[in-house]
Amino acid sequence: MSTTPIADRRTTSVAARATDLSKIYGQGETQVVALDRVTVEFRQAEFTAIMGPSGSGKSTLMHCVAGLDTFSSGSVRIGETELGSLKDRQLTKLRRDKIGFIFQAFNLLPTLTALENITLPMDIAGRKPDKQWLDSVIQMVGLKDRLSHRPSQLSGGQQQRVAVARALASRPEIIFGDEPTGNLDSRSGAEVLGFLRNSVRELGQTVVMVTHDPVAASYADRVVFLADGRIVDEMYRPTAETVLDFMKQFDAKGRTS
Ligand SMILES: Nc1ncnc2c1ncn2[C@@H]1O[C@H](COP(=O)(O)OP(=O)(O)O)[C@@H](O)[C@H]1O
Ligand SMILES: [Mg+2]
Repeated sequence: MSTTPIADRRTTSVAARATDLSKIYGQGETQVVALDRVTVEFRQAEFTAIMGPSGSGKSTLMHCVAGLDTFSSGSVRIGETELGSLKDRQLTKLRRDKIGFIFQAFNLLPTLTALENITLPMDIAGRKPDKQWLDSVIQMVGLKDRLSHRPSQLSGGQQQRVAVARALASRPEIIFGDEPTGNLDSRSGAEVLGFLRNSVRELGQTVVMVTHDPVAASYADRVVFLADGRIVDEMYRPTAETVLDFMKQFDAKGRTS
Protein backbone atom coordinates (compact mmCIF):
# COMPACT_ATOMS: atom_id res chain seq x y z
CA MET A 1 0.00 0.00 0.00
CA SER A 2 1.27 3.46 -0.88
CA THR A 3 2.24 5.64 2.05
CA THR A 4 2.36 8.80 -0.05
CA PRO A 5 0.39 11.42 1.86
CA ILE A 6 -2.65 12.69 0.02
CA ALA A 7 -1.23 16.22 0.25
CA ASP A 8 1.66 15.10 -1.97
CA ARG A 9 -0.56 13.31 -4.42
CA ARG A 10 -2.50 16.52 -4.90
CA THR A 11 0.52 18.03 -6.63
CA THR A 12 0.55 15.26 -9.27
CA SER A 13 -0.99 15.83 -12.68
CA VAL A 14 -4.63 16.03 -13.48
CA ALA A 15 -6.13 13.09 -15.38
CA ALA A 16 -9.43 14.83 -16.12
CA ARG A 17 -10.99 18.19 -15.42
CA ALA A 18 -14.41 19.74 -15.88
CA THR A 19 -14.63 23.55 -15.87
CA ASP A 20 -17.95 25.39 -15.50
CA LEU A 21 -19.66 22.33 -16.90
CA SER A 22 -23.41 22.64 -17.44
CA LYS A 23 -25.85 20.16 -18.87
CA ILE A 24 -29.45 21.14 -19.53
CA TYR A 25 -32.07 18.66 -20.70
CA GLY A 26 -35.17 19.84 -22.52
CA GLN A 27 -36.42 23.39 -22.92
CA GLY A 28 -38.84 25.84 -21.36
CA GLU A 29 -41.06 24.45 -18.65
CA THR A 30 -39.71 20.93 -18.95
CA GLN A 31 -36.09 22.10 -18.72
CA VAL A 32 -33.89 20.23 -16.25
CA VAL A 33 -30.53 21.63 -15.20
CA ALA A 34 -28.70 18.35 -14.56
CA LEU A 35 -25.31 20.04 -14.09
CA ASP A 36 -24.96 23.66 -13.02
CA ARG A 37 -21.45 25.06 -13.66
CA VAL A 38 -19.50 22.19 -12.13
CA THR A 39 -15.75 22.59 -11.79
CA VAL A 40 -13.84 19.53 -10.61
CA GLU A 41 -10.46 17.86 -11.09
CA PHE A 42 -9.58 14.20 -10.99
CA ARG A 43 -5.89 13.73 -10.25
CA GLN A 44 -3.73 10.92 -11.49
CA ALA A 45 -3.47 7.85 -9.29
CA GLU A 46 -6.36 9.02 -7.15
CA PHE A 47 -9.58 7.12 -6.46
CA THR A 48 -12.55 9.51 -6.35
CA ALA A 49 -16.12 8.64 -5.44
CA ILE A 50 -18.97 10.85 -6.66
CA MET A 51 -21.92 10.83 -4.29
CA GLY A 52 -25.22 12.63 -3.93
CA PRO A 53 -28.96 12.03 -3.81
CA SER A 54 -30.74 10.36 -6.70
CA GLY A 55 -31.14 12.88 -9.53
CA SER A 56 -28.30 15.11 -8.29
CA GLY A 57 -26.38 14.71 -11.56
CA LYS A 58 -23.84 11.99 -10.72
CA SER A 59 -24.34 9.92 -13.87
CA THR A 60 -24.60 13.02 -16.03
CA LEU A 61 -21.29 14.33 -14.66
CA MET A 62 -19.59 11.01 -15.24
CA HIS A 63 -21.01 10.62 -18.75
CA CYS A 64 -20.02 14.17 -19.77
CA VAL A 65 -16.47 13.88 -18.40
CA ALA A 66 -16.06 10.44 -19.99
CA GLY A 67 -17.13 11.70 -23.41
CA LEU A 68 -20.27 9.54 -23.44
CA ASP A 69 -22.61 12.51 -23.51
CA THR A 70 -22.54 16.06 -24.84
CA PHE A 71 -22.75 19.09 -22.52
CA SER A 72 -24.46 22.44 -22.84
CA SER A 73 -21.59 24.71 -21.83
CA GLY A 74 -18.22 24.70 -20.12
CA SER A 75 -15.31 22.45 -20.94
CA VAL A 76 -13.92 19.00 -20.22
CA ARG A 77 -10.34 17.83 -20.55
CA ILE A 78 -8.99 14.31 -20.48
CA GLY A 79 -5.25 14.72 -19.97
CA GLU A 80 -4.30 17.50 -22.38
CA THR A 81 -7.25 16.97 -24.72
CA GLU A 82 -10.29 19.26 -24.78
CA LEU A 83 -13.31 17.08 -25.53
CA GLY A 84 -15.27 19.98 -27.00
CA SER A 85 -12.69 20.35 -29.78
CA LEU A 86 -13.05 16.75 -30.99
CA LYS A 87 -15.08 15.44 -33.90
CA ASP A 88 -17.21 12.36 -33.28
CA ARG A 89 -14.62 9.99 -34.67
CA GLN A 90 -11.84 11.51 -32.58
CA LEU A 91 -14.03 11.29 -29.49
CA THR A 92 -14.74 7.61 -30.16
CA LYS A 93 -11.02 7.00 -30.51
CA LEU A 94 -10.24 8.89 -27.31
CA ARG A 95 -12.83 6.89 -25.39
CA ARG A 96 -11.42 3.66 -26.77
CA ASP A 97 -7.76 4.49 -26.18
CA LYS A 98 -7.76 6.60 -23.02
CA ILE A 99 -10.80 5.62 -20.97
CA GLY A 100 -11.94 2.45 -19.24
CA PHE A 101 -15.57 1.89 -18.27
CA ILE A 102 -17.25 -0.27 -15.65
CA PHE A 103 -21.04 -0.27 -15.61
CA GLN A 104 -23.52 -1.55 -13.07
CA ALA A 105 -24.79 -4.13 -15.58
CA PHE A 106 -21.32 -5.60 -16.41
CA ASN A 107 -21.94 -5.15 -20.19
CA LEU A 108 -20.03 -8.27 -21.27
CA LEU A 109 -20.61 -9.95 -24.62
CA PRO A 110 -22.32 -13.29 -23.92
CA THR A 111 -20.78 -15.16 -26.86
CA LEU A 112 -17.20 -14.31 -25.90
CA THR A 113 -15.08 -15.97 -23.22
CA ALA A 114 -13.85 -14.01 -20.21
CA LEU A 115 -10.44 -13.52 -21.84
CA GLU A 116 -11.98 -12.44 -25.16
CA ASN A 117 -14.16 -9.95 -23.30
CA ILE A 118 -11.12 -8.58 -21.46
CA THR A 119 -9.15 -7.98 -24.65
CA LEU A 120 -12.11 -6.95 -26.85
CA PRO A 121 -11.57 -3.16 -26.70
CA MET A 122 -7.92 -3.64 -27.70
CA ASP A 123 -8.86 -6.14 -30.42
CA ILE A 124 -11.29 -3.60 -31.87
CA ALA A 125 -8.59 -0.93 -31.73
CA GLY A 126 -6.12 -3.29 -33.41
CA ARG A 127 -3.77 -3.05 -30.46
CA LYS A 128 -1.81 -5.95 -29.06
CA PRO A 129 -2.23 -6.35 -25.32
CA ASP A 130 0.96 -6.09 -23.27
CA LYS A 131 1.17 -9.75 -22.21
CA GLN A 132 2.90 -9.12 -18.90
CA TRP A 133 0.47 -6.37 -17.95
CA LEU A 134 -2.51 -8.49 -18.97
CA ASP A 135 -1.22 -11.38 -16.86
CA SER A 136 -0.78 -9.15 -13.83
CA VAL A 137 -4.28 -7.70 -14.24
CA ILE A 138 -5.83 -11.18 -14.56
CA GLN A 139 -3.80 -12.33 -11.57
CA MET A 140 -4.98 -9.34 -9.54
CA VAL A 141 -8.66 -9.95 -10.19
CA GLY A 142 -8.24 -13.70 -9.63
CA LEU A 143 -9.60 -14.89 -12.97
CA LYS A 144 -6.75 -17.15 -14.06
CA ASP A 145 -8.83 -20.34 -13.99
CA ARG A 146 -11.98 -18.75 -15.46
CA LEU A 147 -10.59 -17.28 -18.66
CA SER A 148 -12.30 -19.72 -21.04
CA HIS A 149 -15.70 -19.38 -19.33
CA ARG A 150 -18.50 -17.41 -20.91
CA PRO A 151 -20.35 -14.76 -18.87
CA SER A 152 -23.34 -17.09 -18.28
CA GLN A 153 -20.95 -19.53 -16.59
CA LEU A 154 -19.71 -16.88 -14.18
CA SER A 155 -21.25 -15.40 -11.03
CA GLY A 156 -22.16 -11.69 -10.95
CA GLY A 157 -19.03 -10.95 -8.94
CA GLN A 158 -16.85 -12.83 -11.41
CA GLN A 159 -18.50 -11.05 -14.36
CA GLN A 160 -17.78 -7.69 -12.79
CA ARG A 161 -14.17 -8.80 -12.20
CA VAL A 162 -13.98 -9.47 -15.96
CA ALA A 163 -15.31 -5.94 -16.53
CA VAL A 164 -12.68 -4.53 -14.14
CA ALA A 165 -9.93 -6.47 -15.95
CA ARG A 166 -11.29 -5.23 -19.31
CA ALA A 167 -11.16 -1.64 -18.06
CA LEU A 168 -7.60 -2.05 -16.72
CA ALA A 169 -6.18 -4.10 -19.60
CA SER A 170 -5.45 -1.22 -21.96
CA ARG A 171 -3.90 0.93 -19.18
CA PRO A 172 -6.34 3.79 -19.76
CA GLU A 173 -5.61 7.27 -18.42
CA ILE A 174 -8.76 7.07 -16.35
CA ILE A 175 -11.41 4.51 -15.42
CA PHE A 176 -15.02 5.56 -14.83
CA GLY A 177 -17.51 3.37 -12.99
CA ASP A 178 -21.22 4.12 -12.59
CA GLU A 179 -22.44 2.19 -9.53
CA PRO A 180 -20.01 -0.65 -10.35
CA THR A 181 -21.10 -2.60 -7.28
CA GLY A 182 -24.81 -1.78 -7.62
CA ASN A 183 -25.72 -5.30 -8.79
CA LEU A 184 -23.39 -7.21 -6.48
CA ASP A 185 -23.83 -8.77 -3.05
CA SER A 186 -21.71 -7.08 -0.39
CA ARG A 187 -18.91 -9.66 -0.50
CA SER A 188 -18.48 -9.52 -4.29
CA GLY A 189 -18.84 -5.74 -4.12
CA ALA A 190 -16.05 -5.53 -1.54
CA GLU A 191 -13.82 -7.64 -3.82
CA VAL A 192 -14.40 -5.42 -6.83
CA LEU A 193 -13.83 -2.27 -4.74
CA GLY A 194 -10.63 -3.82 -3.36
CA PHE A 195 -9.38 -4.45 -6.90
CA LEU A 196 -10.17 -0.89 -7.94
CA ARG A 197 -8.34 0.45 -4.89
CA ASN A 198 -5.36 -1.83 -5.57
CA SER A 199 -5.23 -0.65 -9.17
CA VAL A 200 -4.85 2.90 -7.85
CA ARG A 201 -2.36 2.06 -5.09
CA GLU A 202 -0.24 -0.48 -6.94
CA LEU A 203 -0.65 0.33 -10.62
CA GLY A 204 -1.12 4.11 -10.38
CA GLN A 205 -4.50 3.90 -12.10
CA THR A 206 -6.92 6.84 -11.86
CA VAL A 207 -10.46 5.83 -10.93
CA VAL A 208 -13.69 7.85 -10.70
CA MET A 209 -16.70 5.98 -9.37
CA VAL A 210 -20.31 7.04 -8.94
CA THR A 211 -21.94 5.43 -5.92
CA HIS A 212 -24.71 6.02 -3.41
CA ASP A 213 -23.18 3.57 -0.92
CA PRO A 214 -21.06 5.03 1.93
CA VAL A 215 -19.21 1.70 2.30
CA ALA A 216 -18.24 1.75 -1.39
CA ALA A 217 -17.20 5.40 -1.08
CA SER A 218 -14.91 4.52 1.84
CA TYR A 219 -12.62 2.67 -0.58
CA ALA A 220 -11.91 5.96 -2.35
CA ASP A 221 -9.26 8.55 -1.46
CA ARG A 222 -11.74 11.35 -1.85
CA VAL A 223 -15.49 11.85 -2.10
CA VAL A 224 -17.11 14.63 -4.12
CA PHE A 225 -20.69 15.41 -3.08
CA LEU A 226 -23.24 16.62 -5.62
CA ALA A 227 -26.67 18.14 -4.99
CA ASP A 228 -28.98 19.67 -7.59
CA GLY A 229 -26.26 19.57 -10.22
CA ARG A 230 -23.66 21.36 -8.11
CA ILE A 231 -20.68 20.23 -6.10
CA VAL A 232 -21.49 21.03 -2.50
CA ASP A 233 -18.53 19.52 -0.66
CA GLU A 234 -15.66 17.09 -0.78
CA MET A 235 -13.98 14.85 1.75
CA TYR A 236 -10.55 13.21 1.86
CA ARG A 237 -9.82 9.83 3.46
CA PRO A 238 -13.51 9.00 3.83
CA THR A 239 -14.76 6.26 6.10
CA ALA A 240 -18.22 4.74 5.83
CA GLU A 241 -19.09 6.53 9.12
CA THR A 242 -17.90 10.00 8.10
CA VAL A 243 -19.65 9.70 4.74
CA LEU A 244 -22.88 8.52 6.35
CA ASP A 245 -22.71 11.35 8.92
CA PHE A 246 -22.21 13.87 6.16
CA MET A 247 -25.16 12.52 4.19
CA LYS A 248 -27.46 12.63 7.25
CA GLN A 249 -26.44 16.19 8.02
CA PHE A 250 -26.96 17.07 4.39
CA ASP A 251 -30.43 15.46 4.31
CA ALA A 252 -31.38 17.43 7.43
CA LYS A 253 -30.20 20.67 5.80
CA GLY A 254 -32.13 19.83 2.66
CA ARG A 255 -35.37 19.42 4.62
CA THR A 256 -35.09 22.71 6.46
CA SER A 257 -34.10 24.83 3.47
N1 LIG B 1 -32.06 11.93 -20.88
C1 LIG B 1 -32.58 12.76 -19.98
N2 LIG B 1 -33.60 13.60 -20.30
C2 LIG B 1 -34.11 14.46 -19.41
N3 LIG B 1 -33.67 14.57 -18.14
C3 LIG B 1 -32.68 13.78 -17.74
C4 LIG B 1 -32.08 12.83 -18.64
N4 LIG B 1 -31.10 12.16 -17.96
C5 LIG B 1 -31.10 12.67 -16.72
N5 LIG B 1 -32.04 13.63 -16.58
C6 LIG B 1 -32.32 14.43 -15.37
O1 LIG B 1 -31.11 15.06 -14.96
C7 LIG B 1 -30.98 15.03 -13.55
C8 LIG B 1 -29.71 14.31 -13.16
O2 LIG B 1 -29.79 12.94 -13.52
P1 LIG B 1 -28.65 11.88 -13.23
O3 LIG B 1 -27.35 12.43 -13.66
O4 LIG B 1 -29.07 10.59 -13.82
O5 LIG B 1 -28.69 11.80 -11.62
P2 LIG B 1 -28.04 10.71 -10.64
O6 LIG B 1 -27.12 9.83 -11.43
O7 LIG B 1 -27.36 11.52 -9.57
O8 LIG B 1 -29.20 9.96 -10.06
C9 LIG B 1 -32.23 14.37 -13.02
O9 LIG B 1 -33.17 15.38 -12.67
C10 LIG B 1 -32.72 13.56 -14.20
O10 LIG B 1 -34.12 13.38 -14.14
MG1 LIG C 1 -27.16 7.73 -11.79
